Amino acid sequence: MKGRLLIVDDDTAHLSMLETLLKSLSYAIECVKDGADAIRQVQKNPYDLVLMDVRMANLGGMEALKEIKHLNPAIPVIIMTAYSSVDKAVEAMRLGADDYLTKPLNFEELKLSIERVTKHLQLSLENNRLKEQLLGEGAFSGIIGTSSAIREVIDTAKIAAPTDANILISGESGTGKELFAKAIHKNSKRKESPLISVNCAALSETLLESELFGHEKGAFTGADKPRAGLFISADKGTIFLDEIGEIPLSMQVKLLRVLQEKEIQKVGSDQVTSIDVRVIVATNKNLEEEVEKGSFRQDLFYRLNVINVKVPPLRDRTDDIPLLAQKFLNRYTKENKKEIKGFTPMAMDALVKYGWPGNVRELENIIERAIILCLGQYICEKDLPSNVLKDYEPENIARHELAGGGKTLNEIESIALIGTLKQTKGNKTEAARILNITRTTLNNKLKRHNLDLDKILPTSP
Ligand SMILES: Nc1ncnc2c1ncn2[C@@H]1O[C@H](COP(=O)(O)OP(=O)(O)OP(=O)(O)O)[C@@H](O)[C@H]1O
Ligand SMILES: [Mg+2]
Repeated sequence: MKGRLLIVDDDTAHLSMLETLLKSLSYAIECVKDGADAIRQVQKNPYDLVLMDVRMANLGGMEALKEIKHLNPAIPVIIMTAYSSVDKAVEAMRLGADDYLTKPLNFEELKLSIERVTKHLQLSLENNRLKEQLLGEGAFSGIIGTSSAIREVIDTAKIAAPTDANILISGESGTGKELFAKAIHKNSKRKESPLISVNCAALSETLLESELFGHEKGAFTGADKPRAGLFISADKGTIFLDEIGEIPLSMQVKLLRVLQEKEIQKVGSDQVTSIDVRVIVATNKNLEEEVEKGSFRQDLFYRLNVINVKVPPLRDRTDDIPLLAQKFLNRYTKENKKEIKGFTPMAMDALVKYGWPGNVRELENIIERAIILCLGQYICEKDLPSNVLKDYEPENIARHELAGGGKTLNEIESIALIGTLKQTKGNKTEAARILNITRTTLNNKLKRHNLDLDKILPTSP
């Protein structure tokens, strides 16, 4: 069930049509026929949304709206009017309506409007899901995402974690490969022992060998002390070999031997030492292709690729972007001691539509940067770098936010003014910034629409 809806309309036929349509969208529906009944129902029950006609026999929609918002300002109310009129729309918005639609209703528009005004419901559902993750998923709780693409990968990793199988984590740069490696280790029986990470690309061939396997004193120039090596340090634990695609063929042979024999040989020594280490490797290359090209050994590939955790690029899980963005927003507002409440719808829309070649890491960096730049309470598109906005088409959001429905430009303008000022809780400087006009222009427009803050912001009961 998506939520509990109250429909208020004195036209029985219209009422039952709405009931049928909205039930088909998995909402739980209750219906009443006048404003007074609506108020009584709202007093008794926790609704997620009220959908209300304006003209009704007994108590009309506007009066009921006022009373409902007085009882519970948090309930979203959508007003339906029989004909489009600026005055009614503006009055409804002033009284706290979250949207208004013109009859006959366009079903698609109604659906969008309901989805938009109940966004907070979806967010709290996500929050619940996140809490469940935190409670039930142990080490995987740090991996944010509810999209089916990421859930599938998390499931694979969860199954693989407690086994001792070698794991190959593949995925583009910044998709979270290291995060997965850490979660797998923490969810394994080796979690009390160390997880040692090695970036194979950062070391030359000789250095890599002595880092991994250790060396004897005098094994090469500069080796003035013996050294244990990282495989020994990781004994009973896990070694994470990042960028495995970068290791030279000669090292691949040595690594293969370690995996087969479960023993290592220090550089400059003829003794072997048994080790008990689980190996997780990661790469942003396509190792199968590297095998075909002859730059990666096939036998090593098979050894490593017992389980393949394929982390999808962010563009294939855009559903997760708002959640990730919110997480990074929380983290970096705290770190930078700023008070930023969220994102403007347009900024969020741009984030969701961008292609993210640098994946989650890029998103994280861009949000940190936006938080530093942002002067208001909401991150807006201006706080985002130009490459994110390059291919962005803001036209879509205008349609979603202000579903046309026969509204005049004048109406749309007044609704935008009211909506933005509500969002900024009356902060005119911030509202002007979001609307991309000067404060003076904003004030002039408010005057022309005969709007002022007292009328727009609901006074607390
Ligand atoms: N699903 C996720 N939830 C929360 N944070 C994430 C998620 N995926 C990635 N991150 C964060 O994004 C950043 C990059 O992740 P990570 O370093 O694991 O990526 P990577 O695939 O190893 O990248 P590279 O290939 O460049 O080494 C980290 O700060 C990580 O915490
Ligand atoms: Mg990495």
